[in-house]
Amino acid sequence: MILAIETSCDDSAVALLNLNGDVIISQISSQIELHQKYGGIVPEIASRKHLTTLPLLLRSLMESHDLNLKDLKAIAVTYAPGLIGSLLVGVSYAKTLAWMLNIPVIPIDHLEGHLLAPFLDNKEIRFPYLALIASGGHTHLIQASGLGDYKLLGRTMDDAAGEAYDKVAKMLGFQYPGGPLIEQLTACCPEPTITFPVPLKGKKTLNFSFSGLKTAVRNEAIRQKVYTEGQRLITFEEYLDIPDADRKNRIANIAASFQKIMTVIMAERMADALKKTGLKQMALTGGVAANTGIRASLSRLATRRGVQVFFPEVGNCTDNAAMIGYTAVQYMNGGITNFEPVLNLNASSKSPIGLMDIQV
Ligand code: KG4
Ligand code: ZN
Repeated sequence: MILAIETSCDDSAVALLNLNGDVIISQISSQIELHQKYGGIVPEIASRKHLTTLPLLLRSLMESHDLNLKDLKAIAVTYAPGLIGSLLVGVSYAKTLAWMLNIPVIPIDHLEGHLLAPFLDNKEIRFPYLALIASGGHTHLIQASGLGDYKLLGRTMDDAAGEAYDKVAKMLGFQYPGGPLIEQLTACCPEPTITFPVPLKGKKTLNFSFSGLKTAVRNEAIRQKVYTEGQRLITFEEYLDIPDADRKNRIANIAASFQKIMTVIMAERMADALKKTGLKQMALTGGVAANTGIRASLSRLATRRGVQVFFPEVGNCTDNAAMIGYTAVQYMNGGITNFEPVLNLNASSKSPIGLMDIQV
């Protein structure tokens, strides 16, 4: 059995997996309530919270399954990329535990965890496949040809897709995180009427850009007077209580129009990448993969193109330790066991698998 630890951003997560990569238990402690009112993650608060949450999570995990730490064969931990303070908490915790138990630490790249997450819930997915990792920190289009054999086909030139959701929600006066909130608002406006510009339209590129779209949404929000700078950020429940029905409709219309264009952008890029690579399988992963509208538009694309599409279950789209443990088991089973001495391991804010650095 292996223990997996993930603390790269604001979620503290632990999981236990057997040596076949089957998840025995996966637990996540969300810090959303602590960051909500700031409209985004506050790194210093995140790392301090990991420090107190992680030992409690691990204890409850072991107790709930009546397990002994001595049953652990290795510890997998996210060591990059992410918020350095948050990563350091998980890495230090993993190192200490592994050193005490005299077992290896397997350092895992968070992006590789997201990339392989579709395997957790889909028995049919195989290499090679086209993957779009869309999260709060990354938007990477990747050809995954085998374990550790990844080619970056495109990426965002400015904000990440999840970041765009979070910023748009904030512009409309809402708390963090924006993705689920924009989905709730979209359900309030079945026929959005605003046509936002499609970024990079007509350009032959597999890259993404969300900053122009974000500015267009901001201008529309100012024009329609839905939010005043400095106003307290609200929740969806508070939105429902707004007495002015016309203002509510204006907010929902902007949110739903933004959601509509995001589904178009994601499907267009995936369509172009399928054409370019000739791949027959695609996967959407990362926090934004929880979005039902985007899932539906990729499913329609898959049907039109006669390819298969895979998504992790919603709980495995956002940050979790199961995907980190799964990736570690693949390396162990692939015969890679010469992991660095436990005490040499360090955290890094940059991705070591190089996906961040390749110019496209
Ligand atoms: O993968 P993740 O948990 O953390 C990072 O590695 O960044 O992704 C978090 C991001 C946030 O930006 C959040 O707004 C977005 O995923 N997200 C969504 C949805 N649920 C979470 N975006 C769109 N639709 C959703 N349902
Ligand atoms: Zn993530």
